[in-house]
Amino acid sequence: MPLPKSEYLSEVWKDGIFNNKVVFCTGGAGTICSAQVRALVHLGANACIIGRNVEKTENMAKDIATARPGAKVLGLGGVDVRKPEALNEAAAKCVKELGSLDFCIAGAAGNFLASMNQISSNAFKSVIEIDVLGSYNTVKATLPYLLESAAKYTTDGKTPPPNGTGGRIIFVSATLHYAGTPLQSHVSVAKAGVDAMAHAVAIEQGPRGVTSNVIAPGPIADTEGMARLSKASSAKDSMKKVPSGRYGTVKEIADATVYLFSDAGNFVNGEILVVDGGAWHTAFGG
Ligand code: HXC
Repeated sequence: MPLPKSEYLSEVWKDGIFNNKVVFCTGGAGTICSAQVRALVHLGANACIIGRNVEKTENMAKDIATARPGAKVLGLGGVDVRKPEALNEAAAKCVKELGSLDFCIAGAAGNFLASMNQISSNAFKSVIEIDVLGSYNTVKATLPYLLESAAKYTTDGKTPPPNGTGGRIIFVSATLHYAGTPLQSHVSVAKAGVDAMAHAVAIEQGPRGVTSNVIAPGPIADTEGMARLSKASSAKDSMKKVPSGRYGTVKEIADATVYLFSDAGNFVNGEILVVDGGAWHTAFGG
């Protein structure tokens, strides 16, 4: 049974806006990234999702494909974003099987709760490598194809495309590092690096028509990240910090993704789109 559209996409978007587009997504079997990809597929895209767990990734690809009759969704499991060769192969396979690679979501991440005096050097390194090096490897592997796509959809790299967009990157970050978050030093450092990378890519590749933005989800209900973080005593009050008085939904992250990849996001580059109901503004005592 296909997941009801109301679970992952608002009604405001027009069907077919991503026809002939292909999205490549690391961490694509996770709760947030799968909703992002499902929304893009519903609106016309084909997709290639990457994950470490083979069964989980292949099953999620089949499930996402139910979002639109005729959708092609490739699930490439056994790929660790810390291994550049594996990502290069995955990106090449995506283009060979689906014809292009127009959008990239760097979403693979690692997280657990650990204080500075508990966390081992190797554990800290694991998270930095998955989040920062993994995002770098993802951009490195996909950039040649993103540049081709950007060139296809712009005339001179400056004029807004007349018939759709290509060559777009979204990094999935967090808001943990805007203020100190206990037990999250490793992730905070990693996500600050991811944000910095997005800015650098925006400036460097913008002249070639590629855009690079960040989505920073706040507390989003029913995600693996929240399940891990909610074990911390500091998380117990996190709902009170959201001005809207509720957690976000994966659908709200998917809607932000559609906006940034659509023609509506043409002139947005190097930005961090925080989707947290205003929660981080209360970080210092709201
Ligand atoms: C302390 C831990 C640990 C824990 C693992 N380690 N789990 N240390 N507390 N709970 C340590 C290990 O002991 C080891 O250090 C080191 O980390 C590497 O462990 P491995 O299992 O070998 O690593 P690896 O297979 O690379 O696993 C990476 C991982 C793991 C990050 C540690 O948790 C993972 O695979 N996570 C992927 C899924 C995930 O985290 N999803 C949630 C994303 S949500 P030693 O010293 O013993 O060798 C997210 C959102 C953030 O990121 C923002 C939320 C708002």
